Amino acid sequence: MDSMLGLKRTRRCGELTRDDAGREVVLCGWMARRRDHGGLIFIDLRDRSGLVQLVFNPETDVEAFHKAETARNEYVLAVRGIVRLRDADTVNANMATGEIEVFGAELRILNAAKTPPFYIQDDIDVDEVLRLKYRYLDLRRPEMQRNLILRHRVTKLMRDFLDRQGFIEVETPMLTKSTPEGARDYLVPSRVNPGKFYALPQSPQIFKQILMVSGFERYFQIARCFRDEDLRADRQPEFTQLDIEMSFVDREDVLTMMENMVAYLFKEAIGADVPTPFRRMSYDEAMDKYGSDKPDLRFGMELADLSDAVRGSSFKVFEAVLAAGGQVKCINVKGYANIPRRELDGLVDYVGQLGGKGLAWLCYTAEGIKSPITKFFDDATVARITAAAGAQEGDLLLVAADAPAALNPVLGQLRLEMARRLNLIDPAKLSFLWVIDFPMFEYDAEEKRWVAMHHMFTSPRDEDAAYLDSDPGRIKAKAYDMVLNGTELGGGSIRIFQRELQEKVLKAIGLSTEEAGEQFGFLLEAFEYGTPPHGGIAFGLDRMVMLMAGRPSIRDVIAFPKTQSATDLMAQAPSAVSPRQLKELYVKLDLVPKK
Ligand code: AMO
Ligand code: AMP
Repeated sequence: MDSMLGLKRTRRCGELTRDDAGREVVLCGWMARRRDHGGLIFIDLRDRSGLVQLVFNPETDVEAFHKAETARNEYVLAVRGIVRLRDADTVNANMATGEIEVFGAELRILNAAKTPPFYIQDDIDVDEVLRLKYRYLDLRRPEMQRNLILRHRVTKLMRDFLDRQGFIEVETPMLTKSTPEGARDYLVPSRVNPGKFYALPQSPQIFKQILMVSGFERYFQIARCFRDEDLRADRQPEFTQLDIEMSFVDREDVLTMMENMVAYLFKEAIGADVPTPFRRMSYDEAMDKYGSDKPDLRFGMELADLSDAVRGSSFKVFEAVLAAGGQVKCINVKGYANIPRRELDGLVDYVGQLGGKGLAWLCYTAEGIKSPITKFFDDATVARITAAAGAQEGDLLLVAADAPAALNPVLGQLRLEMARRLNLIDPAKLSFLWVIDFPMFEYDAEEKRWVAMHHMFTSPRDEDAAYLDSDPGRIKAKAYDMVLNGTELGGGSIRIFQRELQEKVLKAIGLSTEEAGEQFGFLLEAFEYGTPPHGGIAFGLDRMVMLMAGRPSIRDVIAFPKTQSATDLMAQAPSAVSPRQLKELYVKLDLVPKK
């Protein structure tokens, strides 16, 4: 007998409809559930397409009935049977195939199964550690299958769209040289070059630019990237980018092409209508109004500047901050003046944990304004605060004072937190925008040098290039991020394509001519052989699919993700290797990690 025990699958469980009534079918799948009832056995059979109910009757098919009696959850079954319409009173409206059932005439148990450590069904409440250890069972759950099928569809649609637009998919190396995206590299020792290491790519950045030098004009790749950084719900040590580069373009060409692509993807993959063009917002405005470079625009509650309103009061805290060039800003939590005192105290602690210096408040109650700080203000000052914040009776103002670089992110977090608490975020909304005009550099106080905010191949705005030597901090870059609902979906830039400008930027971030030559000599040299103006972007594929699937973590849309501590709980990676392997690689383990 062959391994299918003589049965050949003819149909999938989830695709059977009332039109199939009367047909003989052969189905395969896993037993999701069995009920023994009134002398009959009912089995829900599950395959990738869905579930269908099987019925076994001892009076018509004794042998099949007895086999059905021995089947247990997750047994692998093949069944031959007849599709029948259910009686009106047994139709199951919650099941896609609920109008029919399959009367089993022949049953084959293809394989047995141990009792799984959790139920193979949606919405289980199980520790993720267990799910990751038994990932093969977790992935058998319908919602996980839907997520990965969606991911497949999205990559297929990306390829379709980009192919139609003349993009060529090119693979770039995994074993390569460090590309600077700002995280730590994963290193791979070279056996044939003792003492030397490859780096796994943090992105294909340099290679895609080289492909523009080579004349490919429009490139894309669904590229695996590796970054050894601290993990969060939307970050993995290896993740996938949709990586794109185009020649002979300016910023608007890239933005337009990409918003059209994203609108197409969301329409085709999840049926969502995404209006284009997207709103464009400068980095400065995003930080000032939303306290974030990836603002969630599904709700308002913008940060309001109270600096001018409060200037000159007797409140020393605010006066000191203003004198030092700081700001006093607030968010207006509409209709929440009756916030419980306990929650207010909790917010003060919360702001402290975020690194804020303090939090003051004004509650606009029916009995007047309640606040620990209005005693420092005259009526005119209070009136100016009220006007600047757009406050009305019923509103709560949460006020903080600090230097803008510290103040904005704290109020930005507080804004998100209050929106979550008050349920102001419509999960069905898709709010896209472009954040543009990022600063070229940010100052790294620890390393005491400027670092590129996007990356060092990003072009400064033409009008700002003159400040490269004198005042790097004021330069804005031709960089852009696509933001969806407060998540950075993708980021890119128009690139430098002239050697002199690239050298100046490398110098500005503290690389000597020798270091620049050593690390990027080949790119600098390539720039001298006819490099077209070019630019591009990379999207986080995992993040995009996560948002399409409405999941809270990218781990839910990655087949085999890693934990917060970068381990694979199923395969047990990373793991120790034999002394012989190390010796072959000329690697000696000397340093013992501190406990
Ligand atoms: P950037 O570093 O902004 O740009 O990365 C592009 C996008 O990749 C996603 N992403 C991640 N997703 C999951 N886990 C991670 N650890 C992770 N890190 C980044 C984000 C991000 O927006 N070479 C440039 C692109 C370019 O300039 O064309 C780059 O890699 O969604
Ligand atoms: P005090 O008079 O020092 O108790 O401060 C009065 C109020 O100002 C308290 O509610 C403090 O939480 C608040 N406060 C102190 N520092 C700041 C700050 N940097 N920003 C906003 N509020 C502050």
